[in-house]
Amino acid sequence: MKILVVGSGAREHAICWKLKQSSKLSKLYCAPGNAGISQIAECIEIKVDKLKEIVEFSVDSKIDLVVVGPEIPLVAGLVDMLNEKGIKAFGPVKSGAKFEGSKSYSKDFMKKHSIPSARYEVYTDSEKAIGDLEKFNIPLVVKADGLAAGKGVIICETRKEAEEAIKSIMDKKQFGDAGNTVVIEEFLRGTEASLLCFVDGKNIIPMESARDYKKAYDGDKGLNTGGMGCFSPNTIFNVELNQYIKKNILDRTLKGFLAEGINFKGVLFIGLIIKNNQAKVLEYNTRFGDPETEVVLPRLKSDLIDIMLKCIEGNLSEDDLHWEDDNCVTLVLASGGYPENYEKGKEITGLNKVDDDIIIFHGGTKLYGNKTVTDGGRVLAVTAMGNTLEEARNKVYKNIPKIYFEKMQYRTDIAKF
Ligand code: AMP
Ligand code: GLY
Repeated sequence: MKILVVGSGAREHAICWKLKQSSKLSKLYCAPGNAGISQIAECIEIKVDKLKEIVEFSVDSKIDLVVVGPEIPLVAGLVDMLNEKGIKAFGPVKSGAKFEGSKSYSKDFMKKHSIPSARYEVYTDSEKAIGDLEKFNIPLVVKADGLAAGKGVIICETRKEAEEAIKSIMDKKQFGDAGNTVVIEEFLRGTEASLLCFVDGKNIIPMESARDYKKAYDGDKGLNTGGMGCFSPNTIFNVELNQYIKKNILDRTLKGFLAEGINFKGVLFIGLIIKNNQAKVLEYNTRFGDPETEVVLPRLKSDLIDIMLKCIEGNLSEDDLHWEDDNCVTLVLASGGYPENYEKGKEITGLNKVDDDIIIFHGGTKLYGNKTVTDGGRVLAVTAMGNTLEEARNKVYKNIPKIYFEKMQYRTDIAKF
């Protein structure tokens, strides 16, 4: 099969790496890809939001399957456009991607189908939102409704802060039209977990669990990022919690999809907050997570192409998913200053010096002549498997001093308890 992967992060590198292991693959393309991906796939210079160009390339190159990594093309309807041309694509159509594209839509869906989540209100008028702040306990959470590159969620410790957040999102349009509507919700306490699921329209089948570290610095200090490290399996899950999640979250979500005629196919990534062995949904994403994918796919023994085709055909079963018992840890090496301002174009050295059992997934990197240079905030995801979490973690950290780029920044406490 000829496959095109859309995206340029460490998530897409992990997807390409896993697809490459399949005997069904004949040719792998990635648009636009990065320096690491270019070692295993042919990179095509098309940005992820250039939907028409992606479709044209897929038609001209007779692509059999397009795998869409990031949310922007999904929410914009890339899968619908590909399907119209008769091209198979892995990822939800626009009506499914709306679960990530609109937080108010997701919250209304959860309420309607009794899926446990934070109490909330939706506002389209900033004065009304500010006037209602008294109704919420402090801290509270203000969220821009639409896509805001993970930055549209503001946790407010005072009502004054909440008022400023509402004004900056709704009146000053800090996130553009994504802030025409806001969701205000109660602050939930507990431990976060990421549950990625394969969905084939009729079944929601969880992958192995993962734990992401969202804050920039050790001890969960600093700003929210896309994710600074991750491990799998997530030790917080147990039989009782899994049963709770199946009954109250997965089954109800599926029932809701069926009741509303939503033909969801692809990955549903459920962000959970866990307390007392019960879980509430923080959000739905409609794609693989980054860095979750970098720790989940190395543990997948089954053929990823088979799974993706079964999702598209609507006949995936739990028996199709086989997992390694090993633990997996990934550490993100970021550009100094990330998630705020950072410089690009720093030469990366030492990539060939790491131990043989280390997998380096590239995020923001590109080739500059024969050098590999930084080209984004999250630069590399350094990954290892181990019999225990500690073994995997030690393998990763032991190799970090071999890798260098100017102002390299990373957490030292991933998978450490
Ligand atoms: P979201 O994009 O909705 O997952 O929000 C991003 C991050 O903000 C989450 O991963 C949480 O760390 C935090 N967050 C969002 N909603 C809440 C909430 N209701 N209570 C506590 N933390 C939240
Ligand atoms: N790691 C969180 C995300 O992919 O949204």
